[in-house]
Amino acid sequence: MKAFIKIFRFFPPETAHHLALLSLKILNKVGILKLFFPDNKDFDNPKEYFNLKFRNTLGVAAGLDKNGDYVDELESLGFGFVELGTVTPKPQEGNQKPRVFRYLNQQAVVNRLGFNNKGVNYLVSKIKNKKYDAVIGVNIGANKESTNDQRIEDYVFCFEKVYKYCDYVTVNISSPNTPKLRKLHNPDELEKIFKRINEIKSTNKTEIPVFLKISPDEDEETIFKIVNIYKTLKINGLIVTNTSIDKDILEGCSHEGGISGKPLFKKSTQFLKRIHEFDKDIFLVGVGGVFTKEDYENKIRLGASLVQIYTGFIFEGPAIVKKILSR
Ligand SMILES: Cc1cc2nc3c(=O)[nH]c(=O)nc-3n(C[C@H](O)[C@H](O)[C@H](O)COP(=O)(O)O)c2cc1C
Repeated sequence: MKAFIKIFRFFPPETAHHLALLSLKILNKVGILKLFFPDNKDFDNPKEYFNLKFRNTLGVAAGLDKNGDYVDELESLGFGFVELGTVTPKPQEGNQKPRVFRYLNQQAVVNRLGFNNKGVNYLVSKIKNKKYDAVIGVNIGANKESTNDQRIEDYVFCFEKVYKYCDYVTVNISSPNTPKLRKLHNPDELEKIFKRINEIKSTNKTEIPVFLKISPDEDEETIFKIVNIYKTLKINGLIVTNTSIDKDILEGCSHEGGISGKPLFKKSTQFLKRIHEFDKDIFLVGVGGVFTKEDYENKIRLGASLVQIYTGFIFEGPAIVKKILSR
């Protein structure tokens, strides 16, 4: 399997990504995936949060399956939860290619995809009539051309579309690749988004948990403002963190975009730790630079209830799930 993963490195990153997921789909269709990854009960370490039963606490971070095309396959690999998206109201192409860059020597990726996705209706059509064992989250965002309050409407629109068909929703204000999106870390903007979402929840009598995914590049003051309004806005959890635009963490970084993978571990884990130290009641999902069991356990020790991976999965392939979860 490892050799198989290495072959993909001969392709440009985005092509490799699609080929790898397509291969998983084919292996799953012909029943071979189960041979590589039999229903491994060793992975099970069930936890219950928000009345959701997590088979284990390792999940797929947003961006890997933006449109809900590969949920069956990702679930077969043993993940406890899968976060789909980011999805926006209208389909969009994203930024010009090339827009994903590997830094093999540092086990990092820089991406400036810009929320390329097939739109929220497509995603809903993929997950609507399915029952999954894994917990399914949908990560929602705003279209690139939406400005000011239209952005708020985009989150509301997506939330209304998806909440019936998934287990949790993530409000993503932290992608560095949609201009000015990160300005939504401002408490006034967050209040507008969560006020509307909470109204929908209360009108429809749903308790679906809603998480907020934050950036590792905000200053402490902004993060603590968010932490302070967390309860008032009835945010159910923080996902810490998205990619970073801080080029200091990646040696020889020559591309614009969000940095993920090994170099992000320290920064994102530091954020997690600080928030947890400040308020232990905040539900935290740790993400950023997890490649090993030790990385995973460190995030949990420092306050994460759940952990997600993306870049580690790209570099190590599906075997990373076993590597992290086997006891
Ligand atoms: C190619 C790529 C695309 C991504 N797309 C999204 C996205 O659409 N929405 C999102 O919230 N995060 C996205 N992310 C960020 C990841 O979900 C994660 O927060 C980040 O990569 C840090 O985790 P990692 O070091 O395990 O990759 C993306 C990351 C990568 C590498």
